[in-house]
Amino acid sequence: MSMDNPSKATKHTKTCRIILFPLPFQGHINPMIQLADILHSKGFTISIIHTQFNSPDPSKYPHFMFHLIPDGVSEDQASKHDILRVLHILNTDCIPLFSECLGKLLSAHDDIVCMITDAMIYSSQAVAEDLGIPRIALRTSSVCSFLTFAALPGLREKGFYSDNLDSRWEDPVVELPPLKVKDVLGIHIRNLDDTLKIVNDMVEGTKKASGLIFNTFQDLEEPNIANLHEHFRLPTFLIGPFHKFFSAASSSLLTQDRSSIYWLDTQKTSSVLYVSFGSLAAMDEKNLIEVAWGLANSMQPFLWVVRPGLVQGSEWLESLPDEFMEVTGKRGYIVKWAPQQEVLSHPAVGGFWTHSGWNSILESVCEGVPMICSSFFGDQTVNSRYINDVWRLGIKLECGLQREEIESAIRKIMLEGEGRQDIIERLVCLKEKIDGFSSTSVNALSDFISSFKSSVV
Ligand code: UDX
Repeated sequence: MSMDNPSKATKHTKTCRIILFPLPFQGHINPMIQLADILHSKGFTISIIHTQFNSPDPSKYPHFMFHLIPDGVSEDQASKHDILRVLHILNTDCIPLFSECLGKLLSAHDDIVCMITDAMIYSSQAVAEDLGIPRIALRTSSVCSFLTFAALPGLREKGFYSDNLDSRWEDPVVELPPLKVKDVLGIHIRNLDDTLKIVNDMVEGTKKASGLIFNTFQDLEEPNIANLHEHFRLPTFLIGPFHKFFSAASSSLLTQDRSSIYWLDTQKTSSVLYVSFGSLAAMDEKNLIEVAWGLANSMQPFLWVVRPGLVQGSEWLESLPDEFMEVTGKRGYIVKWAPQQEVLSHPAVGGFWTHSGWNSILESVCEGVPMICSSFFGDQTVNSRYINDVWRLGIKLECGLQREEIESAIRKIMLEGEGRQDIIERLVCLKEKIDGFSSTSVNALSDFISSFKSSVV
């Protein structure tokens, strides 16, 4: 690890250094660290500015430099995963500290060519302009969800949010096919004003950036690429899936329970449904019971990640009925956190019930695993609609968490039949495209970043 003190560091002249600033949530840290590894492998020197909250472990990356800034995120906000509040603090209170740290780095190193910051840390754009350093925004999710976010202010102006929402729930949004009203509302039904402001600031901050990187790939996002270029006229690089280059395991904030792999070793090929709702989603006890009985009634083996904090008001599994444990017995295995990439590549795994977080979707696609898609907030509602209606790589649960629909979806996705077979064929096709993915777009990004060298003084 080299935790350098910027003011004391010696000046480097031969390298091109990139400053990275990740959004401190698991689903955003993973792709930023993977991108850091990708760029490092292309010869760039990497310095990562990071918060105390959800800090990465610098000892795992001796090839990067780390610079800690105080963030002002309290334990309370962190433990409740108050995402809007954390985003607000990062874009206000944190920004002068980020700017100060960056200023010190700029005086200590004359090889800094640009910074790459998460698109959700939109206020870093003003810092970039003040300090005269190009900023590239990293959008860690899909193009389709990004374009949906970008369309929200226009929808609001048209009165989309005004009335009769309940009666329009299942209606199509004509401006954003194939989304339904519920897919768009799911993004921000709570704290509408605050959420729309953050989304809008993110979109506008991205438009001002010098470049834009997505952790996604052209073949998947094809239907939206023209639209993206029309509305975002800046150099854009689709260089995902990042985890094909470097695994996300090293940046896991929770300990990955390897007993899940040993349990999978005892199961038949393609027989197990892997169930995980990512690092932030939360549900109430009633939902948990529906999930549990959906799993139990499907009669299929399952590996279920119940993250501490998944069930509001519960420590871990105490709200699961004893009867569920008795009925499922050795057919089910529950862990707090799993080595997800390894799980998805295990031959025993035949399906993935996901919350539709973008990293989870990419990891599933790369392993050719059919999905059942739930969604909780943010990009997840859009991602899951695309999985179901456009890419047809899985089944979206349309009624929230309800045991009958869950049971039926599990049977469709896990048992041999036309539905499963068609999905697998489409996944095989996509997987071939990903496997054949050359490093052309990564090279284009490297050249783009190197071109800043001459413009930075
Ligand atoms: C969040 C948002 O919820 C998501 O919608 C957005 O796209 C990114 O930010 P998160 O909910 O954590 O992310 O989901 P996801 O994007 O799927 O990322 C989770 C990461 O944690 C994945 O890389 C996955 O491999 C890893 N993981 C998950 C584990 O290592 N172990 C687990 O048990 C579960």
